[in-house]
Amino acid sequence: MSKKSYRIAVIPGDGTGPEVVREGLKTLEAVSSKEGFKYETVNYDFGGDRYLKTGDILPDSAIEELKNFDAIYLGAIGHPQVKPGILEKGILLRLRFELDQYINLRPVVLYNRDFCPLKDKREEDVDFVVVRENTEGLYCGSGGFLRKGTEYEVSVQESINSYKGVERCIRYAFRCAQKKNKTKQLTLCGKTNVLTFAFDLWERTFHKVARDFPEIKTDYAHVDATCMWMVKNPEWFDVIVTDNMFGDIITDLGAMIQGGMGIAAGGNINPEGVSMFEPIGGSAPKYTGKNSINPLAAISALGMLLEEVGEASAARRVEEACRDVVKNKVKSLGAGRMGYSTSEVGDLVAKNIMDG
Ligand code: IPM
Ligand code: MN
Repeated sequence: MSKKSYRIAVIPGDGTGPEVVREGLKTLEAVSSKEGFKYETVNYDFGGDRYLKTGDILPDSAIEELKNFDAIYLGAIGHPQVKPGILEKGILLRLRFELDQYINLRPVVLYNRDFCPLKDKREEDVDFVVVRENTEGLYCGSGGFLRKGTEYEVSVQESINSYKGVERCIRYAFRCAQKKNKTKQLTLCGKTNVLTFAFDLWERTFHKVARDFPEIKTDYAHVDATCMWMVKNPEWFDVIVTDNMFGDIITDLGAMIQGGMGIAAGGNINPEGVSMFEPIGGSAPKYTGKNSINPLAAISALGMLLEEVGEASAARRVEEACRDVVKNKVKSLGAGRMGYSTSEVGDLVAKNIMDG
């Protein structure tokens, strides 16, 4: 049994964030008592409400404070009364960048074939992980306007790809393929036929790093083809590595083939620092306060958090509990259609863990 104790920063955030985080923390309580580790949580109220009330988004001091935690657990960022971009860039992206969480790890796993929109696909057919670069690419904010607001306006938005940034991401993805018990295959997803600078660097680096992992099969697919194969033959994928923008896009498609946003979790990982875990679906303002949103994505994210801090057995319990609830309990993964409320789904997961 683990004797460890963890400090976890919790940022419930906007919209349904607080509702799903509550269920994640319920799960944490259950699994910690089962596994015998201790934890302490500290709440941070960053998000739209705080911004509208006080004008501050994310104080510099908070970044320093957050570096002292073992992990960060995040609900959702995005508020209907705040112009798009302010909170996303000011909180979510800033944390990813300043904490150098250079990996965005997004498993695409189907727990119940009834919830897969693809015809004739079984659970074992949808089981791969996307390793998305998380600190560079089009997300850097490099670019600007010229003659803004005139007919001669020019806007430039550049994709920044550094050798170091690409290399560390690809290396992480190879390690991921090593650990994952499937076909030991890593697919680079790019666009080498058009983005002949950015993905030239990616491709050369991919082949260079591959020499350190002779047991891993390498593969390449353009991003458009990747989307096609994800729908037609998702079973072909084991681990996919890609840049920030493509990773953002293909993981929304990934979320759909695993049953929807209600189940899709992700980790913003700094393997040498503090990592942050979140459901990838956003704040879902329409469902806020209704106790109807699906908390399983947030609960799965909590499972990923436990894996990252070293509680592998606890992580497995959380994953198995989620799998059981998806397989045997809920009627749908969509908000309001689960046959249970948000808190009831959290109760089912907690009970499954306690009985296990
Ligand atoms: C995600 C989200 C974010 C992203 C937004 C909210 C900035 O879509 O985590 O996938 O683009 O990375
Ligand atoms: Mn996204």
